[in-house]
Amino acid sequence: MTPPSTLRRGRSHVARGASAVAILALGVTAAVAIPAQAAGSTLQDAAKGSGRYFGTAIAASRLNDSTYSTIANREFNMITAENEMKMDATEPNQNQFNFSQGDRILNWAQQNGKQVRGHALAWYSQQPGWMQNMSGTQLRNAMLNHVTGVATHYKGKIYAWDVVNEAFADGSSGGRRDSNLERTGSDWIEAAFRAARAADPGAKLCYNDYNTDDWTHAKTQGVYRMVSDFKSRGVPIDCVGLQSHFNPQSPVPANYQTTIERFAALGVDVQITELDIEGSGQQQAENFRKVTQACLNVARCTGITVWGVRDTDSWRASGTPLLFDGSGNKKAAYTAVLDTLNSVSGTTPPPTSTPPVTTPPVTTPPVTTPPVTTPPVTTPPPVSGSCSAALTIANSWPGGYQGTVTVTAGSSGLNGWRVTLPGGVSTNNVWNGNVSGSVVSNAPYNGSLGAGQSTSFGFIGQGNAPGAATLTCS
Ligand code: XIL
Repeated sequence: MTPPSTLRRGRSHVARGASAVAILALGVTAAVAIPAQAAGSTLQDAAKGSGRYFGTAIAASRLNDSTYSTIANREFNMITAENEMKMDATEPNQNQFNFSQGDRILNWAQQNGKQVRGHALAWYSQQPGWMQNMSGTQLRNAMLNHVTGVATHYKGKIYAWDVVNEAFADGSSGGRRDSNLERTGSDWIEAAFRAARAADPGAKLCYNDYNTDDWTHAKTQGVYRMVSDFKSRGVPIDCVGLQSHFNPQSPVPANYQTTIERFAALGVDVQITELDIEGSGQQQAENFRKVTQACLNVARCTGITVWGVRDTDSWRASGTPLLFDGSGNKKAAYTAVLDTLNSVSGTTPPPTSTPPVTTPPVTTPPVTTPPVTTPPVTTPPPVSGSCSAALTIANSWPGGYQGTVTVTAGSSGLNGWRVTLPGGVSTNNVWNGNVSGSVVSNAPYNGSLGAGQSTSFGFIGQGNAPGAATLTCS
């Protein structure tokens, strides 16, 4: 469950000489603000004063530790599973889902009146072994099946999903990180978001990453361009998560609030999703204060989650980066966060809630569990000529459905294919293919098929799902 590679991951190191000045200035601002209502005595109560949440990552294995669970229950109202909803935990064998540990955390949260952030549906890291060895269309379909399966299991219970985690490269390129998922085609991210929306229309859908806190970083700009593009094309995205893992080599940037503002201006919520700041004493406290203040200053910054309860619970325990010490005592950083939250209670407009971009079904979802199995790859109809195509319905809900089309090459193989969707089908949401009107053609990576070989593409349809059908393929 704890791949050392993740812990060793490099962070970019950018010195920020101006940050000390900015921290002092913000400290003064916070001190003179006049609370408009009774101060909260816990992080969650103080955050509620401005319509925000305050969350923590929880490890299921620690829930039996009463010091841990007492603090967690008292202070936080948003819960993220630190590892238990990741791909390796939830689908250890292909298409055999295991929600036991994720459900423990979800149930604990629900029993204690808390909301849950889902983390994470698709990621290059912490993939189960079977997935690490996959590529191409097989991997694309397995990833989409995973997104659908997990989001369906938790349907209606998740405040926001980190649909895709850490897909951008560090350094100066501003481009995508290489990974097996990226090599299935760079539209894998939007395909994952569409599948997540189809499976759980009520959850906010977030893109989550680290080293995206400094507005001037190429990586931040790359993510910004993607979110902007998604918004302009109607790809369903509701929020951006800034992990915000800080240390002296990767400090809180002076322009952190600018980054939050710019993303928010695209029409998405911003959430600080994995906050930890290495350090101690007043210097650490000032950094936590600065992050908290930056979120409070932006209406669409809807909440802050710290990545663990006590320093000893942290994935970076040696950096003592959290709000409680190993004995569960409140640190100076805790007081700084609490006071900052209280200083603006009632003075910042409550964040607007984000309706999903595409109109989701609002009526009762089907009672029966939608299928979470992989698209059919078995015995396609035999063909002698060019190709055949078969439509099946992978998932449906009032007002929409997810279709899967399996394309099979005839005896001479294919260098490309075109499939005509049934009359009345309306979609601009296609993955593993390119849509133009009612015709879907192959993506660059799945046009070549040997004799009898199959590939598939998926789409989201509006309205009632048509029945399974044989489609025209050329
Ligand atoms: C970390 C967990 O805290 C560790 O327990 C685990 O060993 C590795 O993953 N970015 C993320 C989180 O999105 O999922 C990571 O969590 C920390 C970095």
